Amino acid sequence: MAAQIIDGRAVSAHVHASVRQAVTARRAAGQRAPALATVLVGADPASEIYVRNKRLACADVGIESIPLHLPADVSQAQLLQEIDRLNDDNGIDGILVQFPLPRHLDTTLVIERIRPDKDVDGFHPYNLGRLAQRLPALRPCTPYGVIELLKSVGETFYGRQAVVVGASNHVGRPMMLELLLAGATTTITHRFTRDLAAEVARAEILVVGVGRPALIKGAWIREGATIIDIGINRLVDGRLCGDVEFEAARERAAWITPVPGGVGPMTVAMLMRNTLHAAALRATTDPMTTEHATTPPQPEASTAGGQ
Ligand code: GUN
Repeated sequence: MAAQIIDGRAVSAHVHASVRQAVTARRAAGQRAPALATVLVGADPASEIYVRNKRLACADVGIESIPLHLPADVSQAQLLQEIDRLNDDNGIDGILVQFPLPRHLDTTLVIERIRPDKDVDGFHPYNLGRLAQRLPALRPCTPYGVIELLKSVGETFYGRQAVVVGASNHVGRPMMLELLLAGATTTITHRFTRDLAAEVARAEILVVGVGRPALIKGAWIREGATIIDIGINRLVDGRLCGDVEFEAARERAAWITPVPGGVGPMTVAMLMRNTLHAAALRATTDPMTTEHATTPPQPEASTAGGQ
């Protein structure tokens, strides 16, 4: 029987609704709307679209978005200075620097310059370290969104065989940490993995984020698996596809995400949740000191894994 589709647009709409409700409650209590600074460097068309979508999502949930558009030839020092300014601005709760940056700019320096409690992408080593220690603070949006998708179809995680394909800093590695936190027995594969087909064949939960069309063959899929395809690839005919052979995989899986309409909308939705979360962190921060609060309340942290 063909797998059921995991509808990322529907799940993301629920996340938007819950964020909208919380923003409304904040405002009713006399607090300002959460504020997200979006930093776009240069004029990469795809990045412009991503940032526009993120700003539209802000408008949808009642978050204020503050755009900063810098020229492609901005210097490293100027960019870091702008980040310092946003870090010090008490009217800004979250800072999103859209990647990729032009080649002369150092992404790692940029990520590490953003205050951890404004790092709504969850890419700062502090936030990744917290996730690794089962004390999540601001969590990388795409892996966090994948967990929401899995929960939406009743995934229980505990003791399940999860396999992550792709070990990138921003997707695969934090995805592995999220699945581990949730209680799954987790394997991560990468370019040096000897027998990818054999690893995939063991997966009850399969999460793929590589960026190579049809890397994962339908015939490899374990019967009844849940498949989350993070890949977004544009084919020569203009169509979008994921990293998994969708139709063939669908014949074997129980659940599968489509591309588009699967993980993509969740990344933006979790950015909204993180921005709300960062605003709550700031509410516990004394603006008169340089100290800042670290861990927001995270019910998952105390109940997950027990490992
Ligand atoms: N570029 C592609 N995906 C992302 C993302 O999740 N965050 C940022 N900041 N840039 C990206």
